[in-house]
Amino acid sequence: MANMSYSALAPFVCILLLAICSISQTLPEPDSDAAEDGRLVRLRFKVHITNGFPNNVHPFIATCRSHDDYLGTHTLWKNGEFRFKFMVHFWKTTHFTCNVTWGPKSLENISVFKNGVETRSCKRTGNCFWKGQEDGIYFCNNNQSYFKKYSW
Ligand SMILES: *[C@@H]1O[C@H](CO)[C@@H](O)[C@H](O)[C@H]1NC(C)=O
Ligand SMILES: *[C@@H]1O[C@H](CO)[C@@H](O)[C@H](O)[C@H]1NC(C)=O
Ligand SMILES: *[C@@H]1O[C@H](CO)[C@@H](O)[C@H](O)[C@H]1NC(C)=O
Repeated sequence: MANMSYSALAPFVCILLLAICSISQTLPEPDSDAAEDGRLVRLRFKVHITNGFPNNVHPFIATCRSHDDYLGTHTLWKNGEFRFKFMVHFWKTTHFTCNVTWGPKSLENISVFKNGVETRSCKRTGNCFWKGQEDGIYFCNNNQSYFKKYSW
């Protein structure tokens, strides 16, 4: 009879549900924007470009592109930020470059994200931070420990 087999199965159903509950409790929390983790591969990245100059005598202007995308010209005033996010692919190279200008200073085609370079240096947080300053362009992956990557 159907009733018989249900009651016979009930203990097993309970055990199964308990097992599912204890598994789901051990699933990792979804990580936030700047979370640190030890994952082997990261596919989503965000690049931040900011004006780190101490004054507004000139804007910091960044024009960026990849092989596929032209991201436009961004005029950033003091502390202004331009950011873009994307996914890297296994089957083709992702390479974003920018032309940056601050008054009389300029740099052409600086690399801000390339497979094999920033996929490593930005992997821990998934974020690459670039900041224009008086003596050059600074980089870090946590918006804190900036170091100079390009000199004007
Ligand atoms: C950067 O400047 C060079 C020379 O003017 C130009 O060929 C190139 O297309 C510019 N890159 C971007 C992203 O606008
Ligand atoms: C910058 O990139 C543009 C477009 O790919 C190219 O025409 C130009 O020669 C490059 N300039 C330098 C200095 O590499
Ligand atoms: C980076 O740090 C600056 C200064 O502390 C802050 O104003 C800015 O919001 C931060 N940017 C991000 C994306 O966390």
